[in-house]
Amino acid sequence: METIKYHIAQAISEASAKIWGEALAISAESIPDSLEYPPDTSMGDLAFPCFKLSRTLRAAPPVIANKLFAELSAKRPEGIGEVRIKGGYLNFVIDNRYLSGKIVREIIEKGANFGAHTFGNGKTVVLDYSSPNVAKPFHIGHLGTTVIGHSLKLLHEYAGYTCIGINHLGDWGTQFGKLIVAFHKWGNKETVEQGGVDALVALYVRINNEIEAEAAQGITTLADAARAEFTKLEHGDEENIALWKWFKEISLAEYEKTYKQLGITFDSYNGEAFYTDKMPEQVQVLKDKNLMRIDNGASIVDLSDYNMPPCLILKSDGSTLYPTRDIAAAVYRDRNYHFDKCIYVTSAGQSLHFAQWFKVVDLMGYDFADKLYHVPYGTVSIAGAKLATRTGNVILLRDLIANAVDKCRAIIEEKNPSLENKEETAQAVGIGAILFYYLYGNRVRDINFIMDDALDFNGNTGPYAQYTYARTSGILAKAGNFADMTSVNEMTATERELIKTLSLFPNKTKAAIDEMEPSVITRYAIDICNAFNRFYQECPIISCENEEIRDFRLTLTKCVRDILGRALELICVKHPDKI
Ligand code: ARG
Repeated sequence: METIKYHIAQAISEASAKIWGEALAISAESIPDSLEYPPDTSMGDLAFPCFKLSRTLRAAPPVIANKLFAELSAKRPEGIGEVRIKGGYLNFVIDNRYLSGKIVREIIEKGANFGAHTFGNGKTVVLDYSSPNVAKPFHIGHLGTTVIGHSLKLLHEYAGYTCIGINHLGDWGTQFGKLIVAFHKWGNKETVEQGGVDALVALYVRINNEIEAEAAQGITTLADAARAEFTKLEHGDEENIALWKWFKEISLAEYEKTYKQLGITFDSYNGEAFYTDKMPEQVQVLKDKNLMRIDNGASIVDLSDYNMPPCLILKSDGSTLYPTRDIAAAVYRDRNYHFDKCIYVTSAGQSLHFAQWFKVVDLMGYDFADKLYHVPYGTVSIAGAKLATRTGNVILLRDLIANAVDKCRAIIEEKNPSLENKEETAQAVGIGAILFYYLYGNRVRDINFIMDDALDFNGNTGPYAQYTYARTSGILAKAGNFADMTSVNEMTATERELIKTLSLFPNKTKAAIDEMEPSVITRYAIDICNAFNRFYQECPIISCENEEIRDFRLTLTKCVRDILGRALELICVKHPDKI
């Protein structure tokens, strides 16, 4: 689509120079972005609106359109079969030969790489995502950061970037003081070993409840004990360090199971604790640059000039905080990876935190400050219920996945009991349904997860997209060998629409990167499915008697399979050949 837009732009620009002279000519660069898709494709494939030009050209839009029309009909842009006029619009109809010979040919030649780019070549992107807090459950709220982050990584790689995925584990902070106290009071080695992260969560929930109960009576014994244990940990107390490491191992083993199910990997697990010895240097820079102030005993950076509350750097007891660790981590990443972008995917609830420390880094004079991006996303609830770790009111991701997979198993048993790889398929469809549902809407929108909607084969869902993919695979398997056919003169309207939809893949991958929005790809996958299923309803493929047309339709089916498959991969959704 970009090339054809370019041809149209060149032709309009040249025609305008001829009509109104060089001085008033429309610049070719300005045209591609102003081209529109007509609401009804019977009007044309691309439209050029002349309204904005009437001021400079001192003429009514239809008059401008008419003049351009006369020039362009005499000398049509490359790839354009017909130019039409409607009011102030010029409408362009793409030539069938161009659609098959250029666009379909290019897709066939590039296969699943059709949507790739080179603009990231030689550049590095660091992506900080998932990053759960150790000894806390991996609940459905973490799915957002995990899949948005991983999808952004895959998209950037597809555009040529070198990507480093970092799981910035929340493995430091006062919660470890609480856990150590709780473990000594109510836990033991055996129960935690057996219960895994669930046992740790139970301890964590219990101590939080008891601290709250104490606070209600004005008592702070447990809270004080927790603080003391964390201080010991910070000072390298051997016993506490060993416990902390063990809590971390137990939690990681559990997270790994989830990552494996989702097909997600990381290049680094350097969590918050990793930066312990890297923070003093940054605290010193803050001091040297006179950016820090003592406020109620704590060290802060005042941000009132930027309409933000102060950024907390050190507590009154000298211990570091979440922003301190993020600042040290950013400097470390800049030095080690020389990133062109460093992307942080977290819930929108952390937007202020990122805005604050991004500003602090800027004030510290680090020139990578403008390469930091916070990518927020909305909250998740299930049937309206909000979730919170502290109270234990959470829905674990593994339970959600198990539930989806169970349902898929039952559907397969009912509809296709003879399917091979039933278990693998149930996993792929169940997990795919959840991921697709998550990545369908704009990321900042809040999600209310409804399992039946996510699994609806007739909705805009993962199962629908996977089913369409399996349909293309089935057709191609049944057809056996055929010759790629990319030169046809006649096409049905649905074939034209399908090719045009496929041609948009590179635009979509670029838009998804520019907007840091995987949902662009999710919705595009649905566009492909709809276009393909319309084509499938209307155009006989294997049963078509004309061999050329049959081969052409099979060629289109192959293009759909390649592009749909790659689009699904980019949003972490698997695509079995049979469902
Ligand atoms: N551990 C944090 C949480 O679960 C997310 C960390 C995000 N990354 C970062 N560099 N701050 O809320």
